[in-house]
Amino acid sequence: MNAFASAPGKVILFGEHAVVYNRPALAVPVTQVHADVEVLDSPRAGIFINAPGIDLHAELNSLPSDHPIASVVLKLFQRFEISQRPDLEINISSTIPVASGLGSGAAISVALIRSLSSFLSQPLSDNEVNSLAFEIEKLHHGTPSGIDNTVITYNKPVYFIKGQPIETFKVGKPFTIVIGDTGVSALTKESVGDVRRLWLRDTANFENCFNEIAQIALIARRSIEHGKPELLGELMDHNHSILQNLTVSSPELDKLVKAARNAGALGAKLSGGGRGGNMIALAEQDKAESVADALISAGAKRTIITEIS
Ligand code: PMV
Repeated sequence: MNAFASAPGKVILFGEHAVVYNRPALAVPVTQVHADVEVLDSPRAGIFINAPGIDLHAELNSLPSDHPIASVVLKLFQRFEISQRPDLEINISSTIPVASGLGSGAAISVALIRSLSSFLSQPLSDNEVNSLAFEIEKLHHGTPSGIDNTVITYNKPVYFIKGQPIETFKVGKPFTIVIGDTGVSALTKESVGDVRRLWLRDTANFENCFNEIAQIALIARRSIEHGKPELLGELMDHNHSILQNLTVSSPELDKLVKAARNAGALGAKLSGGGRGGNMIALAEQDKAESVADALISAGAKRTIITEIS
């Protein structure tokens, strides 16, 4: 007996940070990268977790119960009221770069929840997968908005407002995004914490910034739905400058954003928690390669060209 599930990466197009303060954000799946989980019967006693990408080869009981992967398995056993644990091999692999804003943790959680529930013949609705993945996100990321687990569970563009029912939306005309990785790993928890401290000190100013970002997210959604993605370029530039004001950009991110614009991108911004991780640029399809090359020349460690449709 075996079961398999895969989950995509994700990128936030608009609205990071403001989303923590109940403003809307737009995020889309990135299917070029994915987390894959296979669950198999094991000939040996125990539950063995193999994740060669992070050098993890361990029996479940040897891991702390709050370990990001062990906690998913334990939560599911609890959810399904399983007291007699089966003997399992769990093989995890992922092409999603870690700690760079592409949702690697949430994708592993979602793929693990789905493969394990299917192996145990305990089907879960998307809604249930999403809320379990959110519980895991909360264990490891402080006060996440839930945007990562939502876009990854539903594998569709989402217009996300914290705590509200999921809203997916249609893409009127496909468009191309180039993702550039600074290679600097940055903890979202820290940038979110810093923004909170600044917000407490300067609430009116930060609330204004969040309102402006909310406007951008709303206009961006309409532009995408109405098949006018070229309008997103200017919105990205504007959103990036507000994120700079919120102090979550970095010299590396600013350099890549500038390089993308100079190479003909229609607009660019950081994406996710900031301070490191990834930026995104909107490019006409035939310019995407040259924007990606310019990002590499400006120091990007890796680029991904993805079509949003
Ligand atoms: O760094 P990422 O891609 O996981 O995104 C974080 C997005 C924030 O809005 C900064 C935080 C959140 O929980 O939504």
